[in-house]
Amino acid sequence: MSHFGQIARVPGDPILGLMEAFRADPHPAKLDLGVGVYKDAQGQTPIPQAVKLAEQRLVERETTKSYIGGHGDALFTAHLAKLVLGADSALLTDGRAAASQTPGGTGALRLAADFIGHCLAGRGIWLSDPTWPIHETLFAEAGLRVGHYPYVGADNRLDVEAMLEALARLPQGDVVLLHACCHNPTGFDLGQDDWRRVLEVVKARELLPLIDFAYQGFGAGLEQDAWAVRLFAEALPEVLITSSCSKNFGLYRERTGALLVCTADTEKLVDVRSQLAAIARNLWSTPPAHGAAVVAGILDDAELKALWLQELDAMRQRVARLRQGLVEALAPHGLAGRFAHVAEQRGMFSYTGLTPAQVQRLRDEFSVYMVGSGRANVAGLDASRLDQLAAAIARVCA
Ligand code: LMR
Repeated sequence: MSHFGQIARVPGDPILGLMEAFRADPHPAKLDLGVGVYKDAQGQTPIPQAVKLAEQRLVERETTKSYIGGHGDALFTAHLAKLVLGADSALLTDGRAAASQTPGGTGALRLAADFIGHCLAGRGIWLSDPTWPIHETLFAEAGLRVGHYPYVGADNRLDVEAMLEALARLPQGDVVLLHACCHNPTGFDLGQDDWRRVLEVVKARELLPLIDFAYQGFGAGLEQDAWAVRLFAEALPEVLITSSCSKNFGLYRERTGALLVCTADTEKLVDVRSQLAAIARNLWSTPPAHGAAVVAGILDDAELKALWLQELDAMRQRVARLRQGLVEALAPHGLAGRFAHVAEQRGMFSYTGLTPAQVQRLRDEFSVYMVGSGRANVAGLDASRLDQLAAAIARVCA
């Protein structure tokens, strides 16, 4: 008898699979706009200097590899909570919010999903249409009922009215997943007035917001990107926030993130965190130490923090310039108007509006890799090859 005989093959991950296909492509002018990693002018995903320096200190000063606690590195979680909620957040001084360290932002989402499944049984979760593909599978795997609210219209533009209308009809008490900034995959972010209107609907329907905050610092700036998160955290008694250090600290493979919980009072925070620790124990036992120690080392040192802020700002500005540059490169092809939204979107990603067939042609004929939905990782672009990309786009759009 074969134990594994009945096991079928499943397709590879649509985003990580692109990384492998790109690596295997021998084309000398290939272009990887697939997975969301930042690349510099040399096409490398750099390790920020601040991270390198913090790592050097860590190697010298680290005295043990014993486990860190269930909620992770206390210095890391304290600093990260301030980064997300604000240095003088009343929630933190009142003991109504805290962070639990997780393996990356995905780990934070999984912990949130299991928390909802275990402790808030019967609640559905509502995702933007479209959203990051892993949101779809992760919450379904955790056994949650997954629904969608519209986000982008047929014209490939943000449709706030449709979103609000749908949110206003959600079952009372359900969970709504919101992207704090740099919406993945579209790059379309809500404006401040839109956020205030969403907040009103969330209050009226008594929804629990789960805010995915994976790109802090890649949109308008570190503090500006936290605006909506802080608005919700201050206006509502209960909020869940997932935070990632993958992009803003360049720590992708170190799997560094956190789940922040905001509660009505300290007692409830302790209750909720006891559940999180119990759930995490069954998922990954205790979180990985290295990335969190690096982030703690940076945020706890004024000089390193200043250096990191500079480096983060440079990454953000470079992506904004690439967006603008691509639209300019498309102008000679008569496509600047059609792709004007690329310069208006925020963060790493652009929902280009290219169809799956056009994306496939870009890959087959020009070795340009992007996600089938038409999502391009603008942060993977190379300023010296914008004309090459624009020409390829023009060919598939002709
Ligand atoms: C992406 O969407 O490309 C990133 O969030 C990386 C990932 O894990 O998919």
